[in-house]
Amino acid sequence: MIYAVANQKGGVGKTTTAINLAATLAQAGEHVLLIDIDPQANATTGLGHRPPAEDPTMFEVLLGEASLREVTRDTVVPGLSLAPSSRELAGADVLLAELDRRESRLHDALHSVLAASDAFGFVFIDCPPSLGLLTVNALVAAQEVIVPVQTEYYALEGLAQLLETVDAVRNRLNPGLLVGGIVLTMADLRTNLAREVEAEVRSHFPELTYTTVVPRNVRLAEAPSHGLPVSMLDPACPGSDAYFDLAKEVVERA
Ligand SMILES: Nc1ncnc2c1ncn2[C@@H]1O[C@H](COP(=O)(O)OP(=O)(O)O)[C@@H](O)[C@H]1O
Ligand SMILES: [Mg+2]
Repeated sequence: MIYAVANQKGGVGKTTTAINLAATLAQAGEHVLLIDIDPQANATTGLGHRPPAEDPTMFEVLLGEASLREVTRDTVVPGLSLAPSSRELAGADVLLAELDRRESRLHDALHSVLAASDAFGFVFIDCPPSLGLLTVNALVAAQEVIVPVQTEYYALEGLAQLLETVDAVRNRLNPGLLVGGIVLTMADLRTNLAREVEAEVRSHFPELTYTTVVPRNVRLAEAPSHGLPVSMLDPACPGSDAYFDLAKEVVERA
């Protein structure tokens, strides 16, 4: 199954969700690939990887100058592979616009890898905070979209636009694309606001919203600076529990 983790808002928990879902499934014995296509490269550095400038990254893959297989690296998590991003990807929207199959380049790169016999059971694509060509490439490559939504007052703002983009990609380029689910993140469960926002999101999207709510948890924020998923930094913290539960739900829906 191939998941894009997308929301054009920054700071809503996309990268945290992508890293920790991917790591949790790898620790459960799955063969998992995490693809970082955000120029900020937070999923790359969050797994302790700092590619030397001369190493090819997803930038070269999208431009057709390297294969996905060539850039894929092992990580500290057994079973979890990483296709790293680099700052250069910031220029990719403009460069991709000039190329053939500009919306399908990640799809094409991924499908040659998935055809191999040791294929990945799960692929997560960590998207940048925009609805530009990079995110469109993720939506064309994916089977499902996971949408992290921060549990704050303006939670639903921008969601309609994201869902319209998903519909447009489904209509033109990827007829099988589904919204896998909406995950509430960074919930401060002691506050009324978090409970109200949760209720509002569930009333708009009763089927789509995952039962698991990811709480605000300092271990989740600290883990990237150790280059570890939260489950390896502190397996018993609330953040680890939440992503374990979320991974179970994601797999059950697949
Ligand atoms: N549940 C959480 N509790 C505490 N901090 C979190 C949580 N989820 C994410 N963060 C932190 O919030 C910031 C934004 O999260 P991130 O996953 O990078 O969002 P995005 O990828 O959508 O920009 C990061 O510093 C991250 O470590
Ligand atoms: Mg991110």
